[in-house]
Amino acid sequence: MELIDGKKINLEVRAEIAKEVNEMVARGEKRPNLAVIIVGDDGASATYVASKVKTCKEVGFESTDIQLPDSTTEAELLAKIEEINQNNDIDGLIVQLPLPKHISEDKVIEAIDFKKDVDGFHPINTGRMAMGFTSYLPATPAGIIELLKRYNIDTEGKDCVVLGRSNIVGTPISLLMSRKAKPGNATVTICHSRTKNLKEVCSRADILIAAIGQCEFVTADMVKEGAVVIDVGIHRVKSDKTKSGWKLKGDVKFDEVAPKCSFITPVPGGVGPMTIISLLKNTLLAAQNKIYN
Ligand code: GUN
Repeated sequence: MELIDGKKINLEVRAEIAKEVNEMVARGEKRPNLAVIIVGDDGASATYVASKVKTCKEVGFESTDIQLPDSTTEAELLAKIEEINQNNDIDGLIVQLPLPKHISEDKVIEAIDFKKDVDGFHPINTGRMAMGFTSYLPATPAGIIELLKRYNIDTEGKDCVVLGRSNIVGTPISLLMSRKAKPGNATVTICHSRTKNLKEVCSRADILIAAIGQCEFVTADMVKEGAVVIDVGIHRVKSDKTKSGWKLKGDVKFDEVAPKCSFITPVPGGVGPMTIISLLKNTLLAAQNKIYN
């Protein structure tokens, strides 16, 4: 069993991005600039956004951090998005989700200029991805693909089972695993709350991607000997074994599943570190006009 080390790959990609930024600046070009909008004071979202802004700085990007109060109206948020769409200094824009209940996430996602949509959530980017056109890939699926690529994990003709069908992870990773590419060319099954014989379907998987949002859902009896297991879950659970009193766990029961695997991502330190770095990679591509002109 080999651990897939997301922290190590994060550092590799981070160094590659920083090098490109240095070269851009040396050529007299401006630094990539990522705008991040957060509405309200959700604690977990604030932590993610702080981490995105910090990583921008570390690779030499500018960032534009916009914090709006919970009382912001949908119209006010849409106006802010339009202002950033029109601002040529800003290359990428993300609006941190979830949003307060009185604001439509669908409207917000559609309001972002698809050329600045470095989250890859806009229907134009999702549609282009589905058709195999160039597009911004959503960060978590892009991070998973990068891990498979850098660990030389063969996906061609393999049975890949994806647990979960969210717009952010399950649906896009299933498309990416099935497309004609490397990594890709897998035979993909998506499982969800209505799937029959879930255990049996999972235990046929050569590659199992767990993005179901339930702590330690995947147990050893659901995993084939020699499988590759990618764990997208992040759950903070109480623990009397850590100083903080908390421990992070995934969607996979790591201790019993890991011995059966050829490769597995740990939580923390697997998929998590790849998500932010993939967002920054998209922002770099935006600044370089590599996806759209
Ligand atoms: N909330 C949870 N994950 C994400 C993400 O990747 N992007 C945005 N904008 N919000 C999120």
